[in-house]
Amino acid sequence: MRFLQACRREKTDAVPIWFMRQAGRYLPEYRRLRSRHTMLELCRRPDLAVEITLQPVRRLGVDAAILFADILLPVEPMGLKLDFVKGEGPAICPPVRTARDVARLRRVDPEEGLGYVLEAVRLLRRELDGGTPLIGFAGAPFTLASYMIEGGPSKDFRLTKNMMRAAPALWDRLLGKLSVVIADFLRAQVAAGAQAVQLFDSWVGALSREDYERFAQPYSRRVLRAAARTGVPVIHFGTGTGPFLESFRDAGGSVVGVDWRTPMDEARKRIGPGRAVQGNLDPTHLFLPRRLLAAEVRKVLRGAGGRPGHIFNLGHGILQHTPPDSVRAVVDWVHEWTA
Ligand code: CP3
Repeated sequence: MRFLQACRREKTDAVPIWFMRQAGRYLPEYRRLRSRHTMLELCRRPDLAVEITLQPVRRLGVDAAILFADILLPVEPMGLKLDFVKGEGPAICPPVRTARDVARLRRVDPEEGLGYVLEAVRLLRRELDGGTPLIGFAGAPFTLASYMIEGGPSKDFRLTKNMMRAAPALWDRLLGKLSVVIADFLRAQVAAGAQAVQLFDSWVGALSREDYERFAQPYSRRVLRAAARTGVPVIHFGTGTGPFLESFRDAGGSVVGVDWRTPMDEARKRIGPGRAVQGNLDPTHLFLPRRLLAAEVRKVLRGAGGRPGHIFNLGHGILQHTPPDSVRAVVDWVHEWTA
């Protein structure tokens, strides 16, 4: 299991590779299922979630499977309404903006509120049968809070930053609650069979170093510590973290995600020898002709320096119109060139 070995910075027979968002709309087999079910149905039906998780494993030959689910699922059992609106992305209703809104949010018993996710994990472990390791995941407190406060995606995080600065005590209560829910959920995924977990802090790059250290890092640290105590490798992923990569590393996680804005060699130096790294091909490189794509893949491998503790991945998720054959080509190259 070269993926788990690399998480532990052990020597591997080849550099392991998987892709964030490896299941999804760029795959025709996903689109076929999606045409008959809503996104939430796909998540809530363990048989469908299992099938979609396995699709990229079969097609691409990746070294890890990531559970098909979404970081926003926990907001429902916390008491909010979640919807995925075509062309607009996720919508959360009502948004969380006042002390009353925060007070109303419920703690979640994972088996009760998110049992369908845990059932998918259990089924997947049986299907994968010790072959491909299974990654569970959750959203980080900052990124989840931003969706809850804005009510959906945001470009400027205006309301989120306003709560942080104008109502820091309220912010701390909200993030405190989220940290508990997320930590409980990750522990439950490990208990159900997840062999590694990833914490997605996708939008944390909207913060300055100072704001990150005051308003996000303490809560990520709580979650990452709780996850580490389960004993499985913990991947800490974020984008736009270049300006505060050392603080991001210090929040925890045995593997640190690196987006494409920071060159891999620089990232490895700044993160240091005590952690594995994951990344960092720009997702748009998958649209290049093969020769140019190959050069970019080589650049990432060279930047990682051939030392143990590198998991090849993108700097962020696969984009919608990505050609699946290019993704497959990258998997084969990484395996061939590093074997
Ligand atoms: O990676 C995988 O293959 C596993 C499944 C997975 C999904 N979402 C499925 C999904 C994972 C790990 C996520 C995480 C997620 N969800 C993140 C963090 C990762 C990242 O990309 O930064 C975030 C920010 C979300 C929130 C979310 N979910 C958004 C913003 C959207 C809409 C944008 C979009 O791409 O449509 C979703 C919907 C979503 N989650 C889809 C999938 C396959 C598309 C649903 C569809 O088919 O319409």
